[in-house]
This record gives sequence, structure tokens and C-alpha cells, in this order.
Amino acid sequence: MKDIKIAIIGLGYVGLPLARLFATKYPVIGFDINTGRIDELRKGHDSTLEVEDDVLQAVLKDSAQMDTGLYCSNQLDDIADCTYYIVTVPTPVDSTNRPILTPLYKASETVGQVLKKGDTVVYESTVYPGVTEDECIPVLEKISGLKFNVDFFAGYSPERINPGDKEHTVEKILKVTSGSTPEVGKKVDALYASVITAGTHLAPSIKVAEAAKVIENSQRDINIAFVNELAKIFNLMGIDTHQVLEAAGTKWNFLPFKPGLVGGHCIGVDPYYLAQKAQEFGYHPEIILAGRRMNDTMGKYVSSEVIKLMVQRDIKIKGSNILVLGITFKENCPDVRNTKAVDVINNLKTYGTNVTIYDPWASSKEVEHEYTMKVIKDVPTEKFDAIVLTVAHKEFLEMELKNMLKPDGILYDVKGILKNDVDGRL
Ligand SMILES: NC(=O)c1ccc[n+]([C@@H]2O[C@H](COP(=O)([O-])OP(=O)(O)OC[C@H]3O[C@@H](n4cnc5c(N)ncnc54)[C@H](O)[C@@H]3O)[C@@H](O)[C@H]2O)c1
Repeated sequence: MKDIKIAIIGLGYVGLPLARLFATKYPVIGFDINTGRIDELRKGHDSTLEVEDDVLQAVLKDSAQMDTGLYCSNQLDDIADCTYYIVTVPTPVDSTNRPILTPLYKASETVGQVLKKGDTVVYESTVYPGVTEDECIPVLEKISGLKFNVDFFAGYSPERINPGDKEHTVEKILKVTSGSTPEVGKKVDALYASVITAGTHLAPSIKVAEAAKVIENSQRDINIAFVNELAKIFNLMGIDTHQVLEAAGTKWNFLPFKPGLVGGHCIGVDPYYLAQKAQEFGYHPEIILAGRRMNDTMGKYVSSEVIKLMVQRDIKIKGSNILVLGITFKENCPDVRNTKAVDVINNLKTYGTNVTIYDPWASSKEVEHEYTMKVIKDVPTEKFDAIVLTVAHKEFLEMELKNMLKPDGILYDVKGILKNDVDGRL
């Protein structure tokens, strides 16, 4: 393909791996408003740990003019001669779980300032159906003065990566693509197909591609909510949920979900995007929001189960010392956004307990900034009244947790990874 120059707008967990991949074949400008992020990437380091430093350094260039490679910048001029703009900015929710589209509007304003005839803008951020065409395109038209589907074109290609997953990396995950006209769909699809080794699926429209992504994560959320409900029921009955799931899982069509805390930037957030749009159409989603409600209560549930077990052992709750293992939203990754371990910790503290948080992956600075909590980076040497394993970091599997407890101390395994010898698990 000739004359392709790609700008990736937003170099986070999604944007950087994508920029790195395209940079193996095309000239790519990675654009981000966070100067700290641009500085670290220019030095060849990715603090999200999604792209290894040597892999990043292999494509890095120190000028915006090149045949292939990645140049990182926060300067508009550097993306002015690009022909494809791929937007990978955050799509969070506010404190009442309503979608925040501001980063998408701002990124569209940025692109609008440099948009030229013939260019294509592809959105990758997770959204509800209609955001690309009804929310972002009008901004592009207004700022650029160009006409959609006459002067410039659009596409939507959702991202399916999973932070910390070194097996399912961006090029190994089949990618859904779409375009604002059938021809543009084919062009966008061909662009992705040229780097995604797992192949592509060209959806018939942008709205179909947007809807496909948001239901993937909603389906996962609902399935986890179901097993979380089972865990609550079986705990009351004194039956081990994991043993039940193992037995039921021997049937060919039983789905292998496990109970747990649902946090992070995607699964705990995306269903609210779909719910919001459904409500605008006059439909109140019952199953989607019931799943969200169930999963959002799990942090509190875990902490009250721990306290109950401590009371049963006659451990004095007020002033007791509890070790929480892990504060990231998932294992073996430093991402602490929307982590539900925080709900466990906050609720334990309401009982007057002293909580120590050990996490070898999380950045202490980020946790302090986001949650005003302290994280220790060295294995604690004192003994605890209770240990709650909230995240399945590989380091925790090698620790002798029982030795870190006072006599009669409680070991609670939220992730169900310690198999035996625990006092409680979800
Ligand atoms: N994290 C994941 O694993 C994952 C997986 C699939 C889809 N998604 C979706 O992808 C999107 C991006 O998620 P992420 O995890 O990469 O977010 P992130 O917070 O890691 O990265 C976003 C980056 O965009 C930058 N940014 C924000 N506003 C900008 C603007 N106006 N112009 C330029 N840069 C801007 C930020 O500085 C940041 O570096 C979200 O919609 C998310 O739901 C994420």
C-alpha cells in the first residue's frame, strides 16, 4: 500500500502496542498529550509493560520523517502529513457510571485540525453503537471544514487485547474492522490485515463493529456475575463453589467462568456504555445492569466474609492486622485503574483493622495518587491476623503464606488459586 502514514492518537495500553506493530511496516507517529508518557517512550521504556523495551527500541525513530518506524510526539505538526488517524484514547465512566466521551471529543478536535482530503480516521476506543458517526464525526467535520464520506472517511476497529497477557498480543488476535462506506471498509480491513497475523473480520457497518465490542465485554461481565451469585449461595450452604464449577465443567457446553472481583478499564465499565444507549432508546436493561450490580458488590462481600471468619476464630477485629496481597485489577500487570481490591481494603478498614498492601507490580506512586493508599514493595516480615489474596500475581504463588499468619490467622483466597489449606475463598 502506497502513501500510508499512520498517526496513533493515545499511546496507552492499547495505542502503544498497535503503534509498535504498524511501525514494523509503515511510518507511524505516536501522539499523546501526556508529556511524561512521550518522554519515557522516547527513552525506549513502556511503564505499562505491554511492549518490552528492546521491542520498542527496535522501531523507535528520532525524526517524524521515515519509511517505517515509530516517532513519538505531542506536537500537532508531526501528525499533519498522516493519511490514517487511529484514535485509542480512554472511554471511562463518571461517578454515576455515565460514559465520559471528553477524551474522544478532544482527540477528534486534534485530528480535525490536521485532517485533509482523502484521509481516514479509525476509532478503536470501546464505545456504544453510534459514538463514531453521531459524536465524533460531527467534531471532525466542524473543526476541519471537510465533508464526511466525501472529503474524508472513517472506520471503527475495536481492540481486544488483555493487559498483561503475553500470549494474546495484538497481532495474534483476530481483529474486527469496519468502514464508513463499503470501499473504505475494505481499505481499513486491508490495512489491519497487513499486520494482524490472526486475520480480520470486516463487519458490515461501523455500528455493528461498535456493538460487537461492547457486547463481548458485557457477556463476560454477566457470566462472572452469575458465578459470583453462585459463590454467595454455595458459601451459605457450606459448599465449595470451585469444586462445584469443576464438576459442572465436565459437561461440554458448561462455560468455564470463575467468581472474582471485576475491575479494570473494560469489563466493569463497558456494559454501562451499552446500558446508557439502551436507556436513551427507552429500554431499561435488566440483565446487563443486574450483572453490574452483582459484580460491584463483591469487594464488600469478600471483606465481610473475612471479618466473619476472624470473628469465628475469636480474633479481635479492631486493631487487627490484615495483609492484602495485590491491588492491581488483574494478575501480573501494573494496571490499577478501577481496581476492586480497593473496595475490599476500604471495607476492611471500616471495621477498624490495619491493612497492609503488598503488590510487587503496582506503582506505589500511582496507588498513592489514585487511592491515597500505601503499597509496600518488599515481602512483609511481621505476622498477620488475616491474609487476603485479591490478585493472582505469580509471586504470591511462591510465598509460604501460612508462615506469615499468627496462630489461628485467616487465609482467604479471592482468586481460588491456592487450592487447599485456605480458610475461605469465593
Ligand atoms: N486496556 C485494555 O486492555 C483495553 C482493551 C480493549 C479496549 N480498550 C479500550 O481502548 C481505549 C484506550 O484504553 P487504554 O487502556 O489504552 O487507555 P490508557 O489510559 O492506557 O491510554 C490512553 C492514552 O491516551 C492519552 N490521551 C488521552 N486523551 C488524549 C487526547 N485527547 N489526545 C491524545 N492522547 C490522549 C492518554 O494520555 C493515555 O496515554 C479505551 O476505550 C478502552 O476501553 C482497552
